[in-house]
Amino acid sequence: MDIKDLIRTIPDYPKPGIMFRDVTTLLNDARGFRCTIDDLVQLHVVNQVDVVAGIEARGFILGGAVAHQLGKPFVPIRKKGKLPAETIGVEYALEYGTDMVEMHIDAVTPGQRVLVVDDLIATGGTAEAAIKLIRQAEGEVIAASFVIDLPDLGGRKRIEALGVEVQTLCE
Ligand code: PRP
Ligand code: ADE
Repeated sequence: MDIKDLIRTIPDYPKPGIMFRDVTTLLNDARGFRCTIDDLVQLHVVNQVDVVAGIEARGFILGGAVAHQLGKPFVPIRKKGKLPAETIGVEYALEYGTDMVEMHIDAVTPGQRVLVVDDLIATGGTAEAAIKLIRQAEGEVIAASFVIDLPDLGGRKRIEALGVEVQTLCE
């Protein structure tokens, strides 16, 4: 199955000039969703991952399913102001605007090997902020996995420059 065929493109969302790659159509296809999670999980050796961190919002859906299948705990990396307990935060620039991601200060313990999951990497700003958060908590980021890479925006190179392996299922 080619999961790319199940990803919808919405021109000019959320701003003119952005071609928004919409994975809701992939998630809405039972085989597509299952194949996507299977493909993400197959990239990893179970005993090399201690925890899966998913980036809001679509990284929760994908990362949650990956964590379940690996039998590992899940940590949400959320947009500013959404987490109830004490947090650490990192600001970042987006393809369209700026934002901040936060994580509970006790969600990752020192030395834990963390797999980061999101739906898409564009500039890599969001993933870089997530990696900085995990490193602030003294976690070790073992890899960052995405369904979609937008290679023209340079995110992969940016994350690899941080010493983190990047895995993607399609461009
Ligand atoms: C999208 C996507 C990634 C991020 C990638 O999320 O799900 O998290 O952009 O862009 P970058 O590589 O340039 O940082 P978005 O910011 O649209 O937030 P949402 O998931 O909360 O809608
Ligand atoms: N995040 C940043 N750029 C994006 C795009 N083109 N489609 C979906 N999510 C994105």
